[in-house]
Amino acid sequence: MVERLRRPPAAPAEAPVSDNGERVHGQFPRVRLRRNRRDAWTRRLVAEHRLGVDDLIWPLFVHEGGGPVPVASMPGVERLSLALAVEAAREAADLGIPLLAIFPQIEQALKRPDGSEAIAPNNLVCRAVAAIKRAVPGIGVLCDVALDPFTDHGHDGVIRQGYVANDETVAILCRQAVLQAEAGCDVIAPSDMMDGRVGRVRDALDAAGFEAVRIMSYAAKYASAFFGPFRDAIGSKTNLGLADKKTYQMDPANSDEALREVALDLAEGADMVMVKPGMPYLDIVARVKQRFAMPTFAYQVSGEYAMMKGAALNGWLDHDRVVLETLLAFKRAGADGVLTYFARDAAKLLAKG
Ligand code: PBG
Repeated sequence: MVERLRRPPAAPAEAPVSDNGERVHGQFPRVRLRRNRRDAWTRRLVAEHRLGVDDLIWPLFVHEGGGPVPVASMPGVERLSLALAVEAAREAADLGIPLLAIFPQIEQALKRPDGSEAIAPNNLVCRAVAAIKRAVPGIGVLCDVALDPFTDHGHDGVIRQGYVANDETVAILCRQAVLQAEAGCDVIAPSDMMDGRVGRVRDALDAAGFEAVRIMSYAAKYASAFFGPFRDAIGSKTNLGLADKKTYQMDPANSDEALREVALDLAEGADMVMVKPGMPYLDIVARVKQRFAMPTFAYQVSGEYAMMKGAALNGWLDHDRVVLETLLAFKRAGADGVLTYFARDAAKLLAKG
C-alpha cells in the first residue's frame, strides 16, 4: 500500500529548519539514511557484510579420558575423548563448518622441560587428528605448533638461562609440524611467536613432502590476559604459574609492529595469517587486511568466550545476538574467518536464518 509510506498530510506551516538552525529548501532533511533501514528487505539488500558458516573455525579440546570434562571457566565447552571429538567433527561437517582446530590437554606426567611429548609419535594430538580425518575426511583439521601444552613450565618453547630459546625451539617446532602433517593435519598453525619459525616450518614440511599442507600463522599474537580460560582448559595454567609470555608474544601497546610480524610471516611462506585475541584487536585485523590483502583470520579467544557466556548465563546479555554480532564485527573489520568457541552455536543459528 503506497499510502503507508506517505507522511501524514499535516505539513509544518513554517519553512523547515536544519539541525544547525539554517533554513533549508524543500523538505528537511533531503537525505534520510533511515530510509534504507526502514524495512527488513532493504536492510538485507544494503548489508555490506555477511557472516556465513564458511567463516567459522571451531576449536576443540581433547584429552585422554573417556568422558567429556567441562572447562570450568568456559561454560558449555568440554575436553573431549577421541570418540567424542570424532562425533563433534561429524556434527561440524554436517553443519558445514570448514575447519576444526585441535588442542590437547596433556597429562601432567608427560610434561617435560623440553616438551618432548610434542614430538612423540602417536601422541594425543596425532591420534585425534588421525581419528577425525579417518571418520570425516571432508573436514579440515588445524593444529597448533607450540610447546606449551607439553612443557612442565607452561612456556611455548624450551628455556635456557631463564629465557625461551628461540632457535632451539624452532628446531623442535619443525619436528612437531611434520609429525602433525604425518597424522593428517591440513593446516599447521604456529602459535609460539618465535622469530623465523614460519620459514623453517615451511622448509621442513616441504622437505618431508608436505608442500600441500597449509600454514596459518599466529602472526600478530599478543601477550594477553584473555588466554586465561584456555590455559585452564589445556591444563597449562598451573605450569605457567605467575610467569607471562611477554618476551615472545606482542605488547598490546603495539600496532605497527603487528604489520612487521605479518610481513615477515608472509615472506616466510604463510598462506594465511591470524590476529589474536579478537575483539579488543579489531583495529589490527583491519590494518592487516588493508595492508596485505591476504587471507586474514581472527581468534575470538577463550577469555572473550568466557566473558560473553558468563554474561549471557546471568541474563545480562542476549547470547545468540551477541554471538552473531561479534562474529559479524570480525567480518566487517576485514577478517576472512574467525576461530571461535561459538562456531557450533553460530552455525546452527545461521542455518535457522
Ligand atoms: C598456545 C595457544 C594459546 C592459545 C592458542 N594457542 C595460549 C597461549 O599462547 O598462552 C589461546 C587460545 C584462547 O585463549 O582461546 N600457544
